[in-house]
Amino acid sequence: MLHESRLSFGAEELLANVPVTEPLVVGGVRCHGGFGADGAYHSPRTLWRVPAVQAWQRQHLATSPLPLVEIPEDVIPPHSIGAAQAKFLIRHGVREPVIRILTEIAIVEGFGAMIRELPVPPLKSFVREPVTGTALEHLSRGLFEAHARDEAGWEQEGGHRQMWNAARDAAFSNPIISPEIFTGIMARRGQEPAPLFPALGPQVERLVRFMVNVLAIEVFARSTFAWAEEVLSDPAVSDAPREATNLVRYIRSDEAPHVEYLRTALSEITARTLYAADGREYSGREVVAALMDRTLRAMTHQRQTERIAQLRDMIRRTANRPDVEDLIAQYDALATPWSPPARYAA
Ligand SMILES: [Fe+2]
Ligand SMILES: [Fe+2]
Repeated sequence: MLHESRLSFGAEELLANVPVTEPLVVGGVRCHGGFGADGAYHSPRTLWRVPAVQAWQRQHLATSPLPLVEIPEDVIPPHSIGAAQAKFLIRHGVREPVIRILTEIAIVEGFGAMIRELPVPPLKSFVREPVTGTALEHLSRGLFEAHARDEAGWEQEGGHRQMWNAARDAAFSNPIISPEIFTGIMARRGQEPAPLFPALGPQVERLVRFMVNVLAIEVFARSTFAWAEEVLSDPAVSDAPREATNLVRYIRSDEAPHVEYLRTALSEITARTLYAADGREYSGREVVAALMDRTLRAMTHQRQTERIAQLRDMIRRTANRPDVEDLIAQYDALATPWSPPARYAA
């Protein structure tokens, strides 16, 4: 049994599954997670990972006056295309934009595998205070690996990439998928931003920035899940309302441990001092806050401008009908109005 004071875990423990009686099989593909005797879904690799993260959170709160890092609710935008807009398009025979969005989500989930490639410099080389028994200490000892496996799948077992594809294929009865969706995503990927703390060196800043970005993406995904559930559960537009919606719910529950370990490790940084090779020191709180501020500013801005225009453009290109501008005008009228909080206004 897990002792309440235990804070140190092996990678195999953080990757261990809750025993299940029935695996999750979707469209013939064995996916991660599974069902207990009571029929409840259990997310993969949560046997020790969930209690471990809870223990590290308690430890942080007991040893630091700082709260756990949180992305404020008011910066989370609704999904770039509203559920009403998606259903409107599908009802008018324009399925391609929604099929593409679901495919893009699956591809981006697959990119989650890259988190295991993220170099973690020796913590002692840039963190002043001890890190024994923290989430930070376990990033490269199971946490990043579990995250990568959850997103991209592992060996014979499908992960979120395969699960989103399965939800799409069920809801839209195996649509044809254009290879240009992948190239489009690659074309939109930005360059590495200029460092905010050059003295810390590129590896340290990249590590913190990456965790901040992934945390923001994971939290912003709440709107994506709500959107997907609302669209895919509607029998008027979805060919497999139950199956597709259940898949989205399983994926959503798998994301909770990602949000929790990332905010825990970031909180642990906020409670510590980071130091540069030249001896210069920064409060971890200042570093996390600055990187978080830049990320949230960029993400909310991008949501308001580029993404909306890209979707309109995608409808124009794929609808292939003479009345497309009329259709877009009606689509625009169904949009959920949203603007970022004043502190993030451009
Ligand atoms: Fe995911
Ligand atoms: Fe995730």
